[in-house]
Amino acid sequence: MSLLSRLKSTGPSGFGYASSAEEVTRGLDLSAQTILLTGCAAGLGQETLRVLCLRGARVIGTARSEAQAQAACAAVSGRAVPLACNLADPASVRACIAAIQSSGYELDAIICNAGIMALPRLEQAYGYELQFFTNHIGHFSLVTGLLDRLAVRGRVVVVSSNAHRRAPRAGIEFENLSGDAGYQPWAAYGQSKLANLLFALELSRRLPRPEQSANALHPGVIHTRLSRNLPAWGRAGLQVLGPLALKSIEQGAATQCFVATHPRMLSNGRYFSDCNLATPSPQASDGALARRLWETSERIVREL
Ligand SMILES: NC(=O)c1ccc[n+]([C@@H]2O[C@H](COP(=O)([O-])OP(=O)(O)OC[C@H]3O[C@@H](n4cnc5c(N)ncnc54)[C@H](OP(=O)(O)O)[C@@H]3O)[C@@H](O)[C@H]2O)c1
Repeated sequence: MSLLSRLKSTGPSGFGYASSAEEVTRGLDLSAQTILLTGCAAGLGQETLRVLCLRGARVIGTARSEAQAQAACAAVSGRAVPLACNLADPASVRACIAAIQSSGYELDAIICNAGIMALPRLEQAYGYELQFFTNHIGHFSLVTGLLDRLAVRGRVVVVSSNAHRRAPRAGIEFENLSGDAGYQPWAAYGQSKLANLLFALELSRRLPRPEQSANALHPGVIHTRLSRNLPAWGRAGLQVLGPLALKSIEQGAATQCFVATHPRMLSNGRYFSDCNLATPSPQASDGALARRLWETSERIVREL
């Protein structure tokens, strides 16, 4: 499909590639909703925070540090509640869970948005490769620690990526979660994003109430600070291509806002792109792989 026809096309949801977060939430009154959002201080998270607040939601905006969360929440109008949640620091995740538990808030949606991409060299936290640990384990720990706070119709929204297709052949290398036995920046990112999808799939089966949902999504390709680890030529290319051929940040935040809040979103255990259902890789629909990842993640979190 040419870029022009892609820009114009919409899918069954009524929205498409070019829809913005403001457009997909237009007319929605979210004033009765409380939404937890990770990575609220930059990129797609910052725009998601702004737009959900604009529609009246109380948004618990988390960031790596208290100061980042406070600055991001102070920059938007509405009910933004700042909270620290460093996904690579289990003590910080536990403190975030405890703060939300004691606040008494019921969560209408949890948007797992924060992420890191393609670290050029192997980095680890607690013996695990850092993208797997941050993008997947951090969110797994946060969400499973808050499931009893999820509203009767609560939605868990996991921001994955089409880069899940770049995961290693095994999908998840259970014998190499440290990265010590071999590390490739894009395969490691792909593995973490496949883990996001498998987490949403398995969670969709385990949610205690039938009206609750867990879905994953690809936001599109957007020039944000996510690309900060790319080589200089890659960053320069994105800089040039950005305004011409990539989604804007406003468009990039649309799919997560749609999946988290739109009344027409009735799916569970599915994958979205451009605000519509999409088909992930066969590995991302592998129930046995999803179960194994869940059990491994539970063990990792228990042992941290
Ligand atoms: N941009 C794209 O083209 C694209 C494509 C596909 C998928 N995605 C996904 O979309 C999501 C948002 O990405 P983005 O483009 O908005 O990137 P971004 O601008 O880099 O924002 C990512 C956010 O995650 C935060 N974060 C990173 N590590 C964290 C940690 N340990 N604890 C807490 N927060 C942490 C970052 O905080 P710091 O600034 O402190 O690091 C930042 O606020 C990611 O999950 C990404 O994988 C993006």
